[in-house]
Amino acid sequence: MADAAPVVAVPSPDEELLTKAAALTVQEEVSTTALPPHRSHDPQNNLKRTDPFQFGSRYLQENDDVFEFNAWDHVETDDTYKEYAEQQFAMQRESPVSDFDKHRFNSDPAKWWNLFYKNNTANFFKNRKWLQQEFPILDKVTAEDAGPVTILEVGAGAGNTAFPILASNKNPKLKVHACDFSKKAVEVMRSHEAYNQDFMQADVWDAASDELPPGLEESSVDVVLMVFIFSALSPRQWEQAVRNIYRVLKPGGEVCFRDYGRGDLAQVRFKKGRYLEENFYIRGDGTRVYFFEKDELAEIWTGVTAVPQDGTEADETKESIESKLAKESLFEVEELGVDRRMLVNRAKRLKMYRCWLQGRFRKK
Ligand SMILES: C[S@@+](CC[C@H](N)C(=O)[O-])C[C@H]1O[C@@H](n2cnc3c(N)ncnc32)[C@H](O)[C@@H]1O
Repeated sequence: MADAAPVVAVPSPDEELLTKAAALTVQEEVSTTALPPHRSHDPQNNLKRTDPFQFGSRYLQENDDVFEFNAWDHVETDDTYKEYAEQQFAMQRESPVSDFDKHRFNSDPAKWWNLFYKNNTANFFKNRKWLQQEFPILDKVTAEDAGPVTILEVGAGAGNTAFPILASNKNPKLKVHACDFSKKAVEVMRSHEAYNQDFMQADVWDAASDELPPGLEESSVDVVLMVFIFSALSPRQWEQAVRNIYRVLKPGGEVCFRDYGRGDLAQVRFKKGRYLEENFYIRGDGTRVYFFEKDELAEIWTGVTAVPQDGTEADETKESIESKLAKESLFEVEELGVDRRMLVNRAKRLKMYRCWLQGRFRKK
C-alpha cells in the first residue's frame, strides 16, 4: 500500500529520497531486511548489519556522525524535524477530508481493504524475522513440548505474521486463528501454500463487532497478536475491540502489539485532504490509519485515565476515582516502548524518522 502523499524529507523534500523512502510503505517498514546496513552500539553487535534488530539495543551517541551510516535506532527527533512535523500537521488540519469522503471511507472500511488485497498479493507483506525476537512468548508456545496453545491474530492480512510462526512451529498442539475483516485477505491466507488446517484457521472477523471470532469461546486464547491492525480502527472502535480481546483471552493471556507512533514519517508526509481527525488519516488507497502516543495506548489498554491533578475537574474524591478506574482496568501493561529509527540519506544529508510503538498487555 503506497500512501499517495510523498515521504517527508528534512529540511526539504527531495525527489530521489522520496522515491526510495516510498518503498518503505505501511507494511514494509516492519520488514527490517528492507533497510540498509547500519551500526549497532551493542558491543557484541557493533558491525554494519541489517537485521533482525534487537528492540532497545542500538543507540546514536553524542559524538557520532549521523551521516556515517544509513539508519540509527532510538533516535529522538531533532528540533528541525519537530518544527517541520508541526507545520505539516497544521497544514493537514486546515485541509481535512471532505464530509462526502469521510462518509465514503468510514461507512465500509472493509471494502477498501478488500480492494487493497485484490490489488496486492501475499508477497506484498514481507515475512517478519523480528517476530520471535521481539515477542519471546512466540518461541515458547511453538516449542515441541509446549502443549495445547491457541493464538489469535487480529487483522492478520495476508498472513505474514501467521505463516512465519507456522514455519518455525514445532508444537504439534498449536492452533493459530488468523482473522481479518477483509474477505479478500482471508481468501489470500486460505489459498497460501502453507495453509494447513491442522494448525491454522483463517476467518473473517471484525474486531470491533460484538461477536467473538469463529470457533473461539470466551477465555480460550493464550496469545493475541496485533501487528499494525489497531491503527486501522477508528477511535470509536477501540473500546469494543479491546473488550473483545479481553473476552477471548484466558486470564493471564498476553497481547503482543506493534503499531504506528505519532510523528512517524508516514504521518508527517500526509498532504492536504487526508486528515480525518487528530492523528487519523485516509491513505491514497482508501484505508485508514491512526498514529498513537505511548500514554494514549497505555490508557486504552488499561482503561486508566489520568486523575485530575489540580482538583478542579471533579468533586469526587481521589479514592472514589481510583476505585472506579480499577474496576474498568482490563489489562496491565507488561511492556510498552517507542521504537524510533532515523533513516539518513547520506548523499543528500537528509534525515527522516520512523516511529513505532511496541508492547505487551496482559489480561488481569
Ligand atoms: C496494515 S494491515 C496489517 C496486516 C497484518 N497484521 C500485517 O501486519 O501484515 C491492517 C489489517 O487490519 C485489517 N483490519 C482493519 N480493520 C479491521 C477490523 N475492524 N477487524 C479485523 N481486521 C481489520 C485490514 O483488513 C488489514 O488486513
